[in-house]
Amino acid sequence: MKITVSVIKADVGSVGGHNRPSEKLLASLHNHLKQNAQRLLKDFKVTFTGDDGCLLMSHTKGVDHPEIHKLAWEAFIEATKVAKEQGLYGAGQDLLKDAFSGNVRGMGPGSCEMEFEERPSEPLVLFACDKTDPGAFNYPIFRGFADPFHNAGLLLAPDMAVGFEFTIMDVNYTEGDRVIVLSTPENYYDMAVLLRDPEHYVVESVKARSTGDVAAVVSTSRLHNIAGKYTGKDDPVALVRTQKQFPSTGEILSPYATAHYVVGDNRGSHIVSLMPCKQNAIISFFDGPAIVTAMGFCIHNGIFTESVDLFDQPFWDMIRNKAAEKTMHIRDQGFFGAAMAPMEELEYTGVVERIKLLDKKFIIRK
Ligand code: F6R
Ligand code: MG
Ligand code: MG
Repeated sequence: MKITVSVIKADVGSVGGHNRPSEKLLASLHNHLKQNAQRLLKDFKVTFTGDDGCLLMSHTKGVDHPEIHKLAWEAFIEATKVAKEQGLYGAGQDLLKDAFSGNVRGMGPGSCEMEFEERPSEPLVLFACDKTDPGAFNYPIFRGFADPFHNAGLLLAPDMAVGFEFTIMDVNYTEGDRVIVLSTPENYYDMAVLLRDPEHYVVESVKARSTGDVAAVVSTSRLHNIAGKYTGKDDPVALVRTQKQFPSTGEILSPYATAHYVVGDNRGSHIVSLMPCKQNAIISFFDGPAIVTAMGFCIHNGIFTESVDLFDQPFWDMIRNKAAEKTMHIRDQGFFGAAMAPMEELEYTGVVERIKLLDKKFIIRK
């Protein structure tokens, strides 16, 4: 039997600024899924990362199923009512459309889903970021699947030696889904030139070439491309299958030790280091830093095991310090040059409007 795992997340209100959902809001998400679980779901979990609530659901309806997407949409609508009652900040922020039209994609919430035939043991990792955009996953996914410095299995495990197939999306194209399919190892340099530009080209999914099985999926929605203005950062999620024909859990985690620089943080407009945090991490310094959490679990007959918090381990304390230091190094130069996001990524209009006014005052010296 094929199982589908769907992850749908949204920021519909938070406590103390853009920091974390309230307990009541999370309980509302949980209750909504619980009421409908028997009808639609095999199992579910509700988590949060920073100010984003996240629904992890298993079922047998396949990806992009309208009933599953409607369930998630309505869960976030109900949670928005709670957020309004409680006076939470940014109530309903990510619900950008009024009427549900069959799929949450293009409506604000982020989603990633995969359908597969369960292996006898099926380990997965759910990554969730806050205060950054989907391109944040380019670096760790590219390196975790394609670089033997992180993925020793590419050299040591024959199943992986044939490489992986990547679907990459042009997220600036808004008329529909513009994608390219490239495979490692032969298209490695082609992929490098695209993925180095994470605000434009984003890994959408990865497949194992040895078996054709889906290995990873990433939410690719860019809120400012949907709303045409700043409505909060996209705060992406990714789901990765691990072990055997896929990288091991540790190989997939390894690139996060770089604490690479991403666009996001305060007003979605700065460059900071992505900090691997324990689950239920909140947002603090400079409305950031940009964070990523990793929840490991197995699924069996559609039922989730308990989960393990993969960044809750002493090794990552050192990386968290490194991430804070990297962030402080770039924060020291405030808004100058590389410290602030490129013009087209500035999520508030102040700079652009001011430059427009100043532009009229420029003179061309004779
Ligand atoms: C970044 C973020 C925050 C807000 C900032 C101002 O993604 O959510 O940095 O941009 O706190 O928020 P508003 O515009 O809601 O006052
Ligand atoms: Mg927010
Ligand atoms: Mg958020």
